[in-house]
Amino acid sequence: MSTPQIVAIDGPAASGKGTLARRLAAALDLPYLDTGLLYRATGRLVLDAGGNPADPAQAEAAARRLKPENLDRADLRGPEADMAASQVASIPAVRAALLDFQRGFGAAHGAVLDGRDIGTVIFPAAPAKLFVTASLDERARRRFLEVTSKGLDETLEDVRREMAERDEADRNRAAAPLRPADDAVVLDTTTLDPDAAFCRAMEIVRERLA
Ligand code: DC
Repeated sequence: MSTPQIVAIDGPAASGKGTLARRLAAALDLPYLDTGLLYRATGRLVLDAGGNPADPAQAEAAARRLKPENLDRADLRGPEADMAASQVASIPAVRAALLDFQRGFGAAHGAVLDGRDIGTVIFPAAPAKLFVTASLDERARRRFLEVTSKGLDETLEDVRREMAERDEADRNRAAAPLRPADDAVVLDTTTLDPDAAFCRAMEIVRERLA
């Protein structure tokens, strides 16, 4: 059996990696998994139970009872869900509980997965790895446009501050910190529109998968 085609897309929030990963999956005819949803849904389950997402035992129990349908909830975005996801994501037992699902998703038919540790931890042998990034100001601007278009009442400064805090937590946590894999290609989208980012990413991925 040939090695499954795994495309690992990592990077910070609002770097454009989600849009890019979805488009790459469609173009390559591969299944797509937004792994951030696993952490978001885990955090949400803890909040539903009136618990504390920073509590390792509660968070691990929630990760272990996660079901695929929990990923379809409409309340996985927004400041409260962002914070809960970041808290559960820093807990090693949560990451361990979510590992098999992610590996299983890609193992059968290949996949495009986006997250923070796909190229470093989940699929370290993936043939194609991209680390998608953009400046904090640009990422905050994009996220601000997204939240205000949904009618949420947040200022650009709030969005920027929360994003900087989350970046800091994701980069400095002991468990699977956000960093490019040694063999990842870094794609900075600060000055690229989504089409330009997609074209560049397709070139890199095609070359790696060839
Ligand atoms: O990509 P996102 O914003 O939906 O991710 C939500 C949170 O989960 C964020 O704090 C980073 C974390 N995360 C992670 O630690 N590992 C992943 N593979 C995906 C997301």
